[in-house]
Amino acid sequence: MRHYISDLKDLVGQTVELKGWAYNTRSSGKVKFLEIRDGTGIVPCILFKGECEDSALEVFEGVTQECTVKVTGVVRKHPKQENVFEVGLKTLELLAPSPNYPISPKDHGTDFLMENRHLWLRSRRQHAILRIRHEIVQAVRDFFDGRGFTLTDAPIFTPSACEGTSNLFETKYFDEKMYLSQSGQLYLEATAAALGKVYCFGPTFRAEKSKTRRHLIEFWMVEPEVAFNDMYDNMELAEQFVEYIVQRTMKNRAEELKVLERDLSKLAVIKAPFPRLHYTEAAQMVKKENAEFNIGDDFGGADETIISSKYERPVFVHHYPQAVKAFYMKEDPKEPGFAMGCDLLATEGYGEIIGGGQREESIEKLMTKIKEHNLREEDFKWYLDLRRYGSFPHSGFGLGIERTVAWICGLPHVRETIPFPRLYGRSYP
Ligand code: 4AD
Ligand code: MG
Repeated sequence: MRHYISDLKDLVGQTVELKGWAYNTRSSGKVKFLEIRDGTGIVPCILFKGECEDSALEVFEGVTQECTVKVTGVVRKHPKQENVFEVGLKTLELLAPSPNYPISPKDHGTDFLMENRHLWLRSRRQHAILRIRHEIVQAVRDFFDGRGFTLTDAPIFTPSACEGTSNLFETKYFDEKMYLSQSGQLYLEATAAALGKVYCFGPTFRAEKSKTRRHLIEFWMVEPEVAFNDMYDNMELAEQFVEYIVQRTMKNRAEELKVLERDLSKLAVIKAPFPRLHYTEAAQMVKKENAEFNIGDDFGGADETIISSKYERPVFVHHYPQAVKAFYMKEDPKEPGFAMGCDLLATEGYGEIIGGGQREESIEKLMTKIKEHNLREEDFKWYLDLRRYGSFPHSGFGLGIERTVAWICGLPHVRETIPFPRLYGRSYP
């Protein structure tokens, strides 16, 4: 019977069979060490002449990094370390070789590792990141599923733009011109009118020619949309959501966060309510430290860092100038020229992780905005129907999974937060 490394703690004293890959080897005199990984964990195995079969020692000589192995042995507690287990090997079989594995424990440059991403995923650090990503994805689903939201995923092929035309990925849909989805939001507004509280969660595409630590070409976004929520309700939902994700990940993925040497004190304080800043206040804050910034402009990555550095919790910036926001944003009737959009900036300089706000519900205003943004009204015929037939105030937001994973893991770049990143300048492997 085959066992998994993650179950060894309950099998002390028993003989087990493990299948996996050689992670590391080491010899010292009569004792040989073989670290095996099987996807559920990594365990040290010890070969001791007289205790194991002689053939195992011979096979050991041919074991190289990442060759496939099958072992049997007895599980025991580590002589010195608490909660660490090891296997005293009886047999060792080589199932498949791995000559000259390109990634050795020494330091490699990022380009080399990215070129070998399909193999890089086998390292301890990458295991930790991907497990945390999985936890975050599960937390996202549980949060909305537990609050009466219905999952209504949006299409990826879309005939029109949602977030402006500058970064649309054009593709063909038989003989028609189509785009890859920049956001499921417009479709969610339709399902919100049908089901009230809805969300979608899927891949999103932005043809952004920017090589920053925050930008991917293909990323995953979760977007809730709630009928009759205003911008303030929207911020409350967003802060509860972010608190839930962070606190749950800390609780369930402590081991992985430790592998990444994450400063947990920075995550422990991520609790709602989060501070809220009007754009004008935020802009003045930026202007003091960045003389080139003009009030009225959108914030760049460095500007976001200036704002977020003042707080130990994430901070909402709301009421952006209409000109820097998408066509669907509602203008605040009390503050003409300002959109009821609210973005959430993460702590420690991780920048915007949420973009969202209240949607324009007046058909006349929306038609004017569509024209002003040089969009074609005919593309939005169905969207305008949502205002024609029972218009309603509604709000929502989008949270980028990769930026959230980078923030929670404390990673310097989003490229390690997704198994196979699509970046400007990299689409292999
Ligand atoms: O601010 P954005 O563009 O908002 C929208 O798309 C809205 N339609 C969402 C909504 O209201 N339903 O994107 C939302 C989030 C950003 O805050 C960021 O976390 C992430 O998506 N994001 C990216 N992540 C990685 N790479 C990129 N190129 C990203 N662009 C946006
Ligand atoms: Mg945004």
